[in-house]
Parts: sequence; structure tokens; C-alpha cells
Amino acid sequence: MSGSKSPATIKNICCIGAGYVGGPTMAVIADRCPSIQVKVVDINQSRINAWNSSDLTKLPVYEPGLDLVINRARHRNLHFSIEVEKAISEADMVFISVNTPTKTKGLGAGKASDLKWVEACARQVANFAKGHTIVVEKSTLPVRTAEVIKTILEAAQSSLDRDLNSPTFEVLSNPEFLAEGSAIHDLEEPDRVLIGGENSQAINSLAWIYQHWVPEEKILRTNVWSSELAKLTANAFLAQRISSINSIGALCEATGADVREVARAIGTDSRIGSKFLDAGPGFGGSCFKKDILNLVYLSRYFGLPEVADFWEGVVDLNTWHQHRISRLVVKKLFGTLSGKRVAMLGFAFKANTNDTRESSAINIAKDLLDEGAQLSIHDPKVDPKQIAVDLDLPESKSFVSKEFGSNEKLGEGIWCFAKDIADACSFADAVLILTEWHQYSQIDWVEISKKMRNPAWVFDARSIVDSEKVFDAGLQFWRVGDGSERISN
Ligand code: UDX
Ligand code: ADP
Repeated sequence: MSGSKSPATIKNICCIGAGYVGGPTMAVIADRCPSIQVKVVDINQSRINAWNSSDLTKLPVYEPGLDLVINRARHRNLHFSIEVEKAISEADMVFISVNTPTKTKGLGAGKASDLKWVEACARQVANFAKGHTIVVEKSTLPVRTAEVIKTILEAAQSSLDRDLNSPTFEVLSNPEFLAEGSAIHDLEEPDRVLIGGENSQAINSLAWIYQHWVPEEKILRTNVWSSELAKLTANAFLAQRISSINSIGALCEATGADVREVARAIGTDSRIGSKFLDAGPGFGGSCFKKDILNLVYLSRYFGLPEVADFWEGVVDLNTWHQHRISRLVVKKLFGTLSGKRVAMLGFAFKANTNDTRESSAINIAKDLLDEGAQLSIHDPKVDPKQIAVDLDLPESKSFVSKEFGSNEKLGEGIWCFAKDIADACSFADAVLILTEWHQYSQIDWVEISKKMRNPAWVFDARSIVDSEKVFDAGLQFWRVGDGSERISN
């Protein structure tokens, strides 16, 4: 891509979609570019209300540092509203940052992304944009989505009732690489910014925005399809590392090795690198599975079944691994969870986020509930209402203070939300740590063990607990990927 043409001036940005990507990304752009007015719009009124809340603990997305950025920019040059059409009509640049879940029915069901929201946005932009408008695809999208957007915009441009003042469009791909929980850091100090496009002036206009805080050498320019495919590939490679290390973890457990030692040993090879090698309960989050399934769909579509199978294996291993953990808990608790209580610590798909999308906790909790367990679930940031939606099961009246064998009939296959760790663990037969929240690594096991029913287990699916402290408290212990003798049972 040539970078010769000077950028068009961008004064007004509209971002459609005030979610996990749109909200934080626009907040940082507004913070770093005070001369640009940024409007983030969404059809979800309650989400917009939450973004406008004066109480910064009520923002719809929890991200460390986000409150400070919002506090600096909001009402200055950052605005949240439901006036989608107005914001589009005022904008020189429109980011599309709406959700693109996997299709549940029809062609490509279970694999391809559902583009109906993206399509709806493109139509709105086509109808309400004025003048020259640069449209930026920001959602994680399958390859060739920019083409869909472009086709819709061009159709609008060429429609007969348009005149000389009709809007003109350029479409760019600008995938987001932020990881939840570190979104603000990732946005403020990105490894790279990727801009895919055909028109150098449009590319330079978007690059100009990032140049306010990102060094030029980190701004990569490619063609649109390379940019779209690079996003899917980055996520597929990252997810593949997690399935790889989790598969080796299972082998370690079976053979007496410790996956943490193996990870350290291979991570010192500079070609492999040490990041993203933590065995865990399996990857979650809104992107990994969806993006790999997109890659699988594309590969099959283009007649490459071997490529499709290769990537599908990454997702299959992950699902198998999640169920492996549930089976293991059942096995250690004498083959049945009927009449047993499990404290589940952590429901978010990773620490420092309130997001539960595709969290391994969902599959594992469902398995344990099917086995008849009573689950007392704790998470410092996840709303219990979200857990009820994810489990498709209403929350039961709190049973945390009641012994299982108490006179009161409590039931099986039920769950309740525990307000703190101690409550979650009371009368529990096992504690299962699924999210690496810092406070779970600080638990006083001597105190907790007094609340549990013996013989009690601690299952650490995140490797964050000091095993000595657990053993000293008289508890039994399992750690993911650890087959070393003391732990094997
Ligand atoms: C990911 C990509 O990292 C990001 O670049 C992209 O924009 C969106 O998808 P995210 O899903 O927010 O980000 O989180 P990430 O940190 O990548 O973790 C994904 C999952 O892998 C989590 O469930 C996490 O717990 C798990 N994980 C990560 C491990 O189990 N082990 C690791 O070593 C790293
Ligand atoms: P992501 O993680 O990709 O940001 P989210 O689901 O968190 O996904 O956010 C996407 C947001 O996009 C939601 O708040 C949803 O209401 C919004 N949205 C979807 N379609 C439209 C649309 N046509 N116009 C405005 N907002 C939309």
C-alpha cells in the first residue's frame, strides 16, 4: 500500500456498537485525540445509560483503567447516545463495532459468523451518511466482510434517487487486537495497528488518528483481505497454543510431569517464546472459538478440508479438555456429585473482566449440575443474572449457610451466587478455581478448610494456589497439568 496521499481531516467519528470493543477503543481515541468529537452509539438504551452513568463503577464493561479514561474524555469529546442516524450523518468516519456471533441456523450454522448486524449497520450508513465517509470495520469479522459492506454502500451510491450531493465511501479493515482485562493498556501501547484498504488517502486518515499516540513503525498497512485474515489467524494461533499446552498438561498428569516445568523449558526457546503457555480450564472469550470456526468454514468453502480439520481440532481439544476437568472432579469425589456441594470460584472467562462469553466455567458448571451438584458460585465482577442466563437455570435461594444434610430440602443440580469466598466454600466438599482472580491466590486455606466438609478437595484449574498451604490445611489437592507424585491420587 502506498502512503503518499495526505490524510483527509477527521473531525467527527461515529462508532456503531458500544460493547467490549467499541466502548474502550473509542474512549482511548477520544482521550488521545481531543480535537476529534467521538460519538459512540448503540440501539441498547440501557447500555448507553450505563456508559453515561456518573457512577464509574456502573460502566457496562469492566476494564482496569477504563474509568479514568472515561472520566477524562466523556462530555468533552466522547459522547454515548442512541441517536445512531444523527451520529452517522455528522461523521467523517464511521466505525462498525457490532457483535458478530456464530450463526445458529441456515448456511454455515455453527461455524460462519452471522453478519446481520453488520449488514444492518452498512444499510444505515448508506442511508444517513453525508459527504465523503470512511467506513472502518472494527468487529472481528470473517474475511471478505469489507466487500459486503462495500457492496451495500455502492448500491446506495448508485441508486437513482441520489444526486450529486450523494455520499461517497471508502471501506477500511482495522481489526482490534485488544485482550479483555488489559484492553486499556493494549489500546494505549499496541504491538501494532493494522489497517487494510485500497485507498491510500483513507488509510492515511485512519493512520493519522493512531499517530496521535502510536509510533509510525507500528502502523501496518495491508490490503483489506490480508488485514481481515491476519486477525483470524492471530486468534487461531493464540488459541492453538492454549490447546497445545492443555493437551500436554493432560499428558503430564498421566505421566508424572509438571506442565509448568515443561512450559518453562520450551518457553526459553526464543522461537517458541514464553507467553500464552499457561495450562488452564480451556480458552473462552468471544473471539477464539468464533474466529477459528470462521477459519474452518472458509477453508471448507475454498475446498481445503485438511486445513479445516487441522483448525477444528483446536476447538475440539478445548471442548474435550473442559469436560475432562468436570469428569475429573466427579471421579475424585467418589464418582458422584449427588449430595455434594462444589464452590466454583470464578465465572468470567479470564481475570479482570466481567465477560462470561464462552467461559469454560459454563460447560464445566453444566456438567457438574447434570451430576447433581449444588454449586455455590463466586466471581468478583460477574453479575449473577448473567450466570443464570449462561446456565439457563434460575438462581436458587441461597443455600450457602445450610449444610447439605440439613432438614430443609435443598435439592440437586442447583446453584446460588455467593457474595464472598468464605460463603461459597461453606459446607462444600470441593473448591474448583476456574478464573485466575488475584484474591483466589491469597485464600487462607486453614480458615476455609474449617468451613468445608471432609474429605475436602481443592481443584486448581489455573495453577494459582500454593499447594503447600492447601496440604498444610489438611485438604486434598489437584492442579491442572501437574502429575508430580505428591499430587497424584
Ligand atoms: C483474545 C486475543 O488475545 C486478542 O488479541 C483479540 O483481540 C481477542 O481475543 P481475549 O479473548 O480478550 O483476547 O483474551 P486472551 O487473553 O487472549 O485469553 C483468551 C482465553 O485463553 C482466556 O480464557 C484465557 O484464560 C485463556 N488463556 C490465555 C489460557 O488458558 N492460557 C494462557 O496462557 C493464555
Ligand atoms: P463486542 O465484544 O464485539 O464489542 P458486544 O456484544 O459487546 O460485542 O457489543 C456489540 C454492541 O453492538 C451491542 O451493545 C449491540 O447492542 C450493538 N449493536 C448491534 N447492532 C447494532 C446496530 N444495528 N446499531 C447500533 N448498535 C448495534
